[in-house]
Amino acid sequence: MSDSTTDVWETMSTARTIRRFTDEPVDDATLTKCLRAATWAPSGANAQAWKFVVLRSPELRAVVGKAAAHALDVIEPVYGMSRPAADDDSRRARNNRATYELHDRAGEFTSVLFAQQRFETASELLLGGSIFPAMQNFLLAARAQGLGACLTSWASYEGEALLREAVGMPSDWVLAGHVVVGWPRGSHGPVRRRPLSDFVALDHWDTPADRLTTG
Ligand SMILES: Cc1cc2nc3c(=O)[nH]c(=O)nc-3n(C[C@H](O)[C@H](O)[C@H](O)COP(=O)(O)O)c2cc1C
Repeated sequence: MSDSTTDVWETMSTARTIRRFTDEPVDDATLTKCLRAATWAPSGANAQAWKFVVLRSPELRAVVGKAAAHALDVIEPVYGMSRPAADDDSRRARNNRATYELHDRAGEFTSVLFAQQRFETASELLLGGSIFPAMQNFLLAARAQGLGACLTSWASYEGEALLREAVGMPSDWVLAGHVVVGWPRGSHGPVRRRPLSDFVALDHWDTPADRLTTG
């Protein structure tokens, strides 16, 4: 069942998004390790003004299912997505098939909301900087244990109001993100990213850092 690893480089480079899960529930011990890892993340002034809400009851899962359906309505036209034909085996069709499966089955899985308390002086982006590292730690801990995970946008769009209401989130908290977890159907694998040279500059915005990154 579990494709686990303790190697940090393997963990980071193979923590790709998993959208297809078995029916096996995520046990409390495994989930707790992910949540504990989330608390090891940095936050501004070490304020740790975060809250992680595990969504597991049938009622909450039903709300997640609704939020996912709303999100799918939004992203389909944005990404030009449609349900692939049964005989289409292209990479795009396989990706889309997995994405549709995740959204269609959204109400069956355990997932976690990540929230950050608002502070008057901090912009939303700055607040995000105090919660996104926790989400990444959660994802890496999931991968290390062989668990699959998918960051979603379901707590945005119309789903935000639904989820805030359902969990009773106070208005002075920012709903920063949502992650689905489960045991993968299929395997973890290397992430696909553009070359490092596309992203790194040396001293000046327009100066490539090839000497640094290849040396
Ligand atoms: C902020 C954010 C929102 C995302 N929302 C969704 C989503 O709603 N549905 C989905 O299937 N994947 C979602 N993803 C996953 C991305 O599509 C995925 O991380 C990206 O394509 C890179 O693929 P990889 O993680 O397999 O390397 C989201 C990722 C991020 C960072």
